Amino acid sequence: MDKTPGRSCPLSYRYAADAFRGAAALAADTLWIAGGLYGNRYALQALLEAFDAEPGAKALVFNGDFHWFDAEPAELELIDGTVLGFHALRGNVETEIAAPADGAGCGCAYPEWVGDATVERSNAIIERLRTAARASGRDLARLSALPIHIVAKVGGERIGIVHGDAESLAGWNFSQEVLGTPQGAAAAERALVRSGVKVFASSHSCLPVLKSFPGGRAVVNNGSAGMPNFRGERYGIATRISVRPARTSRYGARLGGLHVDAMALAYDYAAWEKRFVELWPEGSDAHRSYFARIRQGPDFELAA
Ligand SMILES: [Fe+2]
Repeated sequence: MDKTPGRSCPLSYRYAADAFRGAAALAADTLWIAGGLYGNRYALQALLEAFDAEPGAKALVFNGDFHWFDAEPAELELIDGTVLGFHALRGNVETEIAAPADGAGCGCAYPEWVGDATVERSNAIIERLRTAARASGRDLARLSALPIHIVAKVGGERIGIVHGDAESLAGWNFSQEVLGTPQGAAAAERALVRSGVKVFASSHSCLPVLKSFPGGRAVVNNGSAGMPNFRGERYGIATRISVRPARTSRYGARLGGLHVDAMALAYDYAAWEKRFVELWPEGSDAHRSYFARIRQGPDFELAA
């Protein structure tokens, strides 16, 4: 295994094959899942407005990496205080803020297609974020106590909510790069069957995926709630799983009695760009790694 900080996957990130066989942590008619908020307070606002408008029995789960760009104490307090009012999983970012594993760096377990400079800048971002977290008034033990996987029930069906994949907090097996290969898709289908869940909802790999399998199963990855996900677009995405159809959806799938949809979070782009540059000016690590994506989206298109 590659031991470079930011490349490796700490052992504590892994979980057992029966991790999804236990009691469901929550049940709802409509479940929203938002991973990769990355400290974008305007995306958080857009998400909460959309969730508030949802009728019926509902739940919102933040499946990790809600912190990242919020590397100032007051900004981090605002994000942390709001998110922890809902169900939350810790991602690699929260894990490495609160209880850093030796040599994990940012804990991203970046695969080989991500360049060394990006990995080094991510490790520098997590250092600044740790300093801000320690200087804030937040109880970091609450972050380290968050679960790394939960099961939710929607319409009686089991939904496995993770940050990475079926085996690890920072696994990349639910990335579009892996699910796009026949071997990767077959492995994901085996993981769904083995885990006894109809849907896995993930986020860590930061690009969205919705991949359906026989038997009404699917892997859905919201990409990022707080950053653009497609070339030329400027909205985040959250996953919605419900017994009822969505009123508007960017794209979706019907799985038996469940509707799985990618919901656009059209946050105040101008306000966020201004705030981001205040937090991370030109030349800073996060600006160099992320500003192009924040402004123009990633080099990724929505497939038909
Ligand atoms: Fe992550």
